Amino acid sequence: MWSAIAPSNIAFIKYMGKSDVASNLPTNSSLSFTTKNLISKVNIIPHKGDIDIWRPLDDENFFTLDLNEFEQAKYLSHFSRIKELFGVRDNFIVESSNNFPSSTGIASSASSFAALTKAGVWAMCEVSGADVPDDGYICEISRLGSGSSCRSFFQPWALWNSAGVKELGFDGFNFLNHQLLIISSEKKLVSSSQAHQLVKTSLLFQGRPERAKLRLERLIGAMKKQDWKETFNLCWAEFMDMHALFVTCNKPFSYISSKSMAVLNFVLGFWSANDDGPVVTMDAGENIHIFWRPNQADVKKEFFSRLPIEDFGVIDNEKISGSVR
Ligand code: DP6
Repeated sequence: MWSAIAPSNIAFIKYMGKSDVASNLPTNSSLSFTTKNLISKVNIIPHKGDIDIWRPLDDENFFTLDLNEFEQAKYLSHFSRIKELFGVRDNFIVESSNNFPSSTGIASSASSFAALTKAGVWAMCEVSGADVPDDGYICEISRLGSGSSCRSFFQPWALWNSAGVKELGFDGFNFLNHQLLIISSEKKLVSSSQAHQLVKTSLLFQGRPERAKLRLERLIGAMKKQDWKETFNLCWAEFMDMHALFVTCNKPFSYISSKSMAVLNFVLGFWSANDDGPVVTMDAGENIHIFWRPNQADVKKEFFSRLPIEDFGVIDNEKISGSVR
């Protein structure tokens, strides 16, 4: 059996819209923070059956994963791609799970495809007798399965642009405390892959690559200067820009529920009252990611004392670490 784990990542500048669907090439560069304790684990087990099989990985530290037919097919087709690359014809059982709820805007596809690619490549190298390729190559294979997964190979920050993916660091911003406000653990109705296609039908998509480029340059500038407020402003504008594409495409959909809107309004009110607060972003899902610098302990305490916390759950990326083997 071969096993691998990989972390998830949350984009501050989003990958949304593809210039090449087949190889998951993005229409704009993206920048993400690697959420090192939110992880997926994959086991690959040889078996004698005629086809590869997916099943949830059974581990008390992980949520029992329930992939629908389409999700299983996408996952196993990536695994087949890896087998083909190494000329392997044997069949395997692929087990996977995450230590956080899946398909709810917590980028489970990033960690699960990165973990599958790592375990798959290691397994196929051993079975075929090939040398294990370097991480850069494994990351490119992973991108073919799910674009955002290529950023999970780098930390604390990953920049994915036309030259590839590379790690970045920003003094003062490398050890952010990340919390997830779980508004809903229901599976989302529109997948990220569908969203990538649909956004192109929005009139707002015209100009989107240019806006994302400019915002990325400004965000990198703000983070280099350790300007937290500007970082908040740019991240806010960025996820709202992406969600505006969702609600203005020709088959409109929305992930921002009244509950998430209430939390977002609370965040805006908190920032305007305190001139400080968390950096916030949302992925393609209802849940809200908030980030704090280590020296914001007091303001964070104040934030949580006022937030109507009983209405939803919080996953603390720091606290989850102890429970994962
Ligand atoms: C909203 O990587 O899940 O999370 O390449 O089709 O698998 P595919 O899409 P995926 O898209 C992620 C979109 C996003 C933003 C981001 O992570 O940059």
